[in-house]
Amino acid sequence: MELRLDLQDQQMLDGKFGPAAKLAMSVIVRMANILEVSELLDISQAHIDACGLMSDSGLEFVETFSMLGGRVRVPTTLNMVPLDLHNWRSQGIDEKYASKAERLAKAYLDLGCIPTWTCAPYQGYLTPRFGQQIAWGESNAIAYANSALGARTERYADFMDLCVAITGRAPLYGLHLKENRKGQILFRLVGFDSTLFLNDTFYPVLGFLVGRIAQNRIPVIEGLDSPVSSDQLKALGAAAASSGGVGLFHIIGVTPEAATYSDAFQDMSPQQIVDIHPSDIQEAQKDLSTTNDHGIKIDAVIVGCPHMSFNELRTLAQLIEQGKNKLHPNTRFIITTNQLSAALLDRSGYRDSIIGFGAEIVTDTCVFHCPLLSPDTKVIMTNSGKFAYYAPGELNTQVVFGSLAECFNSAIHGTLQRGGF
Ligand code: F3S
Repeated sequence: MELRLDLQDQQMLDGKFGPAAKLAMSVIVRMANILEVSELLDISQAHIDACGLMSDSGLEFVETFSMLGGRVRVPTTLNMVPLDLHNWRSQGIDEKYASKAERLAKAYLDLGCIPTWTCAPYQGYLTPRFGQQIAWGESNAIAYANSALGARTERYADFMDLCVAITGRAPLYGLHLKENRKGQILFRLVGFDSTLFLNDTFYPVLGFLVGRIAQNRIPVIEGLDSPVSSDQLKALGAAAASSGGVGLFHIIGVTPEAATYSDAFQDMSPQQIVDIHPSDIQEAQKDLSTTNDHGIKIDAVIVGCPHMSFNELRTLAQLIEQGKNKLHPNTRFIITTNQLSAALLDRSGYRDSIIGFGAEIVTDTCVFHCPLLSPDTKVIMTNSGKFAYYAPGELNTQVVFGSLAECFNSAIHGTLQRGGF
């Protein structure tokens, strides 16, 4: 299939918009040809995931665009950077590592990107609109933008996201097209008392289970007859995008492209129907922990994967304020969030409660990408389905999944505490 370029695409490819746009367009054309796509489309916003220091070549890629005088053509937000830009010294981060991370951050700023430094860009600045064609990286952000907002993005890989931001053009395929957004696999929630939907562990576990079964297909969830918050959709999507490759999910009566069953499937029939019972959720929840030994020592509690919203921070602060408890001296409590939520925390007066408890508020970054943990961290507890899924492989630790209240209570005792709060 031959790729048709418009006049401006061709001019970019010929170098009339400068060497950075030429390089970026050549990557896009190559990708479009591999994908056998015949057209490019305009995108009006980008979110770049390639902000981790995965390799020196990644840094070199971004700096090359910067040295070539590149500028992004659309508003472009940035995912987490591999360190807390304000507090890395007090966190004991190595100077050499920090200097590379700062070079990376500077290169993106020189390209005209917006320093959001967050994996939850949809809960802050420049939230996309329904139907808006965008190019986003970071799996949880892609799932949220497509599913909760009804914006349209393919799953952009590292570096392709930057090329699209620099040209404002992307291959027209996949989830950019309405016909590719219809549901494929139906998950029916059967036998649930709606009070179960109030449990904060329900959404990440449901996402984990749905992702594991759906893999790359588009799941449709039926039977969630309860209001679902932005944070709950975030937790569900992040987990589904981790255990599977879910870039779009529908919840009938909740998400914007699924007002009805027919809308969700675009008048087609599901390829497969899966019933989920409360016992399936209980089983899946167990699978998110590698250990469940009551009383096992918890070295660190980590919350904020994806980055905590102000609302989640406030909930935690209120939990802390209910008692006069302090963090156990042998346990760390790390909260990852972004500067926007942290600023709102300051303004609300809740920061003092969280710091007074002994928790560490880390902004801009992510525990998987920043060396925040000491090598003797053996057991981590989290309320994030995504974090629980990746931690054993990425951090080589044991992991315990639990509710925020269980995480909090375990942090006070320094050992795993379940239920009853
Ligand atoms: Fe964000 Fe890191 Fe989790 S980038 S979604 S905190 S794995």
